[in-house]
Amino acid sequence: MKIGILISGRGSNMVAIIDAVQKGEIPGSEVAVVNSDKADAPGLEKARERGVEAIVVERAGRKREEHDAEIASELSKRGVELVCLAGYMRLLSPSFIRAFEDRILNIHPSLLPAFPGLDAQRQAIEHGVQTSGCTVHYVDEGLDSGAVILQKPVEVRSDDTVETLSARILEQEHIAYVEAVKNIVVSARRA
Ligand code: GRF
Repeated sequence: MKIGILISGRGSNMVAIIDAVQKGEIPGSEVAVVNSDKADAPGLEKARERGVEAIVVERAGRKREEHDAEIASELSKRGVELVCLAGYMRLLSPSFIRAFEDRILNIHPSLLPAFPGLDAQRQAIEHGVQTSGCTVHYVDEGLDSGAVILQKPVEVRSDDTVETLSARILEQEHIAYVEAVKNIVVSARRA
């Protein structure tokens, strides 16, 4: 299965997926391309260092539909079958979602449906919850609202800051994303 990863920044979840694929932990898969909507995303270099093609389809000044159509075309050209959003900071248009129906995944740093949107870790601390975590989910037209695929809980400690909680959640994100992609690839091969 050919995977395309969309990023906007650091790309640590992208690295986790690429490394798992390259170590053979997700048999029958290949990361065909990484796309960033920002030319200065640090994740681009990390992908290239791993021998993965990394491209930029700039979003600046462009309408969402037009931007997404170009991304969809770049992904399709490379035969991408599964799209993984990994810190991709722009909502996708309905036409992009239809083009890859039920084949777009995202990772979010909370136990959805709690704390969708930005600053999920801060929201968790401010609400005083004792458990947060991360969620891999399908992407639909809403904000972090698609069906849940897999979740990992993380304890919120009384002395946690946004930074310490984010770091512990991120460790679980890397595990969860690889596990979810693996499950999807394995079940697609069985089908
Ligand atoms: C992660 O916390 C992810 O859950 C959220 O954005 C962050 C991206 O981090 N959607 P990275 O770019 O994968 O390091």
